[in-house]
Amino acid sequence: MTSWTVRLLGLRASLVMSGDRVGFEMSLPAGSLKRGVAGMLAQKSARQASAAMAPEPIDPDLAELARQVAGVTWYQSIDLGRGFVTPGFYDHRPILERYSLPERLDGMRVLDVATFDGFWAFEFERRGAAEILALDVDCMSDIDLPFRRRALASEEELAAPFGQGFSIAHAARRSRVQHVTCNVYDLTPERFGRFDFVHVGDLLLHLRDPALALSRIRNVTSRYAFISDVIYPDLDRFDDQPIMQYDGGAGENIWWRFGARALRRMIEDAGFDQVEELNRFRYGPRGKDATLWHVIYRATP
Ligand SMILES: C[S@@+](CC[C@H](N)C(=O)[O-])C[C@H]1O[C@@H](n2cnc3c(N)ncnc32)[C@H](O)[C@@H]1O
Repeated sequence: MTSWTVRLLGLRASLVMSGDRVGFEMSLPAGSLKRGVAGMLAQKSARQASAAMAPEPIDPDLAELARQVAGVTWYQSIDLGRGFVTPGFYDHRPILERYSLPERLDGMRVLDVATFDGFWAFEFERRGAAEILALDVDCMSDIDLPFRRRALASEEELAAPFGQGFSIAHAARRSRVQHVTCNVYDLTPERFGRFDFVHVGDLLLHLRDPALALSRIRNVTSRYAFISDVIYPDLDRFDDQPIMQYDGGAGENIWWRFGARALRRMIEDAGFDQVEELNRFRYGPRGKDATLWHVIYRATP
């Protein structure tokens, strides 16, 4: 017998396969739902228990999707339809409005830089973008690893593919988004043209040279770029000083801790004439405390 588990609206749903039979088991994490809902489910549970335990034949496509979803470590929680949400390390869905994105992107050419599993690119598709490119590197070897970490990494580690979730989510959502493998430092208008809307989420802190990346991003932006990243407001305590702290690729490959003023200055210095702070909020990994400050800038060339 094989089983896969996905989380859905606080419920744990396990897909159980035995021979050619497939069944679902659902369970509630203790204390996670309001009492009324729990009570309602408790009344139903006696009636449903026997049915839930008895495997029923289900859509083999759904079983295959569950198998694929379970085989990937997801960074982003993505709605795949038919009741599946990928168990991402981060879930941006409940805080989407804090990103102050345009409601509609109809007719626009959109670029999502550092797309990972593609959450933002799919969101821009949902908002009507005409064409969407989702850009990311291929594997760990392509990111800015500190010298010693790279030297100590095995070939397997360096070749480990990134964003495997993208193609699963892309197929499940029947998406039109185009995935391109490219380092942000190699982004040029000659290769990709220009974009009405460019999105860059939580990338700059992971780069050795965020100023160079921003200038590459500026060169492909025709209308505006939405740039969000982690900030450390303590670093803004000295009036007018654009301060960032060097972390040298420590921990989860963090090169820089930005003060908001330093990040804004860097965006301006990349050639964006107008940089507007749209929002500032804290969030954290799914199910954990919201500890990290994020800032959202809209930058216009
Ligand atoms: C913290 S994740 C952010 C993912 C996504 N943008 C989001 O906001 O949820 C960092 C992403 O940056 C990508 N990345 C790291 N270095 C990169 C580079 N030099 N060029 C392009 N993408 C890069 C990683 O592969 C990963 O997808």
